[in-house]
Amino acid sequence: MPRRMICFFCPARGKGRTEGRSWGVSEEVVVPRPSTIAIDGPAASGKSTIGGLLSDRLGYLYIDTGAMYRAVTWVALQKGLDVDDEDAISELARALEIEITRPAVDDGRQYTVLADGHDVTWQIRRPEVDRNVSPVSAYAGVRKVLTEQQRRIARRGRVVMVGRDIGTVVIPDADLKIYLDASAEVRARRRYLEVLERGEEADYEHILQDMKRRDMIDSQRQVAPLKAAEDAVIVDTGNLSIPEVLEVVERLVEGTVADSGGDTCA
Ligand code: CDP
Repeated sequence: MPRRMICFFCPARGKGRTEGRSWGVSEEVVVPRPSTIAIDGPAASGKSTIGGLLSDRLGYLYIDTGAMYRAVTWVALQKGLDVDDEDAISELARALEIEITRPAVDDGRQYTVLADGHDVTWQIRRPEVDRNVSPVSAYAGVRKVLTEQQRRIARRGRVVMVGRDIGTVVIPDADLKIYLDASAEVRARRRYLEVLERGEEADYEHILQDMKRRDMIDSQRQVAPLKAAEDAVIVDTGNLSIPEVLEVVERLVEGTVADSGGDTCA
């Protein structure tokens, strides 16, 4: 299937123009709602926010796979393991029990992350995890273990799963694949504001450099690099607010968004 890029607000390609011709809907046959939805993209492209909101709307399970890689990284740092020691980190990933559950505490969290029964929801967002998570995620042994766990969850269906390799590796047969993107500068600004909102100190330049470094490691690694699946719909979120991105994504789910036939919109 050819890659599709959509621009929701492009007047020439707006709602109605090709409605009924696009994915999921035809004049006589209404295809059921996608049950497995993969959302990939680089850091701060909006995956987690959109994934969470979409799963709430649909009543689907929401799995942020980044949280799993972060949990392995946090526990490795806590145990004083050398993050360059691939064998030790892979062994840790095999032994560690990670659970993502509905929010157990009302403190602004999207979900609760348990590592061997300990609540690590906020610890996995710390800067030292940001710095070390990409090298840890590049290890084949770590990816193998987490990918298997993610596939088991996805098999149950009615799931929105977000990450870097969901549409390409974890569930290549997902019913709907979306790739959210934006420039590094836009994404760094979002992350900067997020950190400030949590009441922590933030330095925009530092965040931007860290994000570019992480993008590079994630997209150049040997195993499951960050990239859009051939059949993913790419949504540039650079000029869109969260409600606007959610609207685009919901229309993709309902199959009522116009297909731009591979064009992008300025
Ligand atoms: O929230 P943010 O976009 O900054 O990152 P995340 O989604 O929490 O993911 C953190 C890191 O985990 C990424 O930079 C990747 O290195 C790794 N990751 C991955 O390799 N594969 C995934 N499916 C999800 C995350």
